[in-house]
Amino acid sequence: MTFNIHSTDDNSKARTGVITTDHGEIKTPIFMPVGTIATVKSVHQRELLNDIKADIILGNTYHLYLRPETDILQKAGGLHQFMNWSKNILTDSGGYQVYSLSERRKISEDGVKFKSHIDGSMHWFSPENVMDTQRLIGADIMMAFDECTPYPCDYNYAKRSMHMTHRWLERCITRFNATDDLYGHQQHLFPIVQGSTYKDLRKESAQYIADKDLPGNAIGGLSVGEPNDEMYEMTDVVTDVLPKDKPRYLMGVGTPIDLLENIALGIDMFDCVMPTRNARNGMIFTSQGSINIKNLKWKTDFSPLDSDGTTWVDHDYSRAYVRHLFTVNELLAKQICSIHNLGFYLKLVRQAAQHIQDGDFMSWKTMMVNQMQNRL
Ligand code: GUN
Repeated sequence: MTFNIHSTDDNSKARTGVITTDHGEIKTPIFMPVGTIATVKSVHQRELLNDIKADIILGNTYHLYLRPETDILQKAGGLHQFMNWSKNILTDSGGYQVYSLSERRKISEDGVKFKSHIDGSMHWFSPENVMDTQRLIGADIMMAFDECTPYPCDYNYAKRSMHMTHRWLERCITRFNATDDLYGHQQHLFPIVQGSTYKDLRKESAQYIADKDLPGNAIGGLSVGEPNDEMYEMTDVVTDVLPKDKPRYLMGVGTPIDLLENIALGIDMFDCVMPTRNARNGMIFTSQGSINIKNLKWKTDFSPLDSDGTTWVDHDYSRAYVRHLFTVNELLAKQICSIHNLGFYLKLVRQAAQHIQDGDFMSWKTMMVNQMQNRL
């Protein structure tokens, strides 16, 4: 994997660059659509490729391990083959889902025993078997196994947990180095900074993770209920420590405004369920603000879904039509809004890159943040 920085902003820590892997180029800053269970919900791969223009999508070890199960993915020749996706894939390690989804779990130094949210069966994740599972899935970027602390989290728990995440990282690296790529493309491991909302812990974790000299670095444990200012403060502290010449990935973030604020703080990669999940509930994002398309207000609005939008759905369908589809509970409503929202997120990060290159990123960001706060 290579990461080349193309431009940096004089007035913030924002930068643009290109990550290159065996599955092609990823222009940063990037938003990665979430494809939890081998599908970006209600969006075809062709649309992701041709309309949304995603360079990379995300999958979840926790979900894929439970269904379709790892041996099926192995028989298929890996997740790329199974889902017919020829570009990049990053898999999260399960370090978050095990805590947020599993009904019951027991964390120990060895790993996590958990109950499946699907059928209640018991399972076991350890740093070693999570590396093995991600090898079998075949993601281009694999994530280290970590503990994502909740918010709020008391200092002593956050500290103990962070140190365990660091010890787990050692075990992940050992296993990663002892195993091979299975499908003819190189895989890469990213470690995860933890430390809850404590600056000293965040600095210590960032330094520990940076010293491992892996090809990219991630920040976890944020967007778990803390106020926005606290999230931005933690990102700021951590990006001051993480190396400049490696991509920085902020996990599970966020709103369009969060993306712009964190790009200014030096983040290159994001993922979040928000564009697709909100789309399925009729909430769409535009540069002028967010819209609840189910509102009565749109009943006779025959203007395009988003006249500034870059995907075909933005111009082919009116607000009144999409509202109607929601009213009668038609599947197409969710598809249209998912394509729209992902198109909007990808356009937003491409625009951010353009403004970083042009040297007016911060003034553009202020204008966009103001506009996007509106509820139309
Ligand atoms: N997704 C969002 N936050 C986290 C985190 O802290 N750890 C992991 N593994 N995934 C995440």
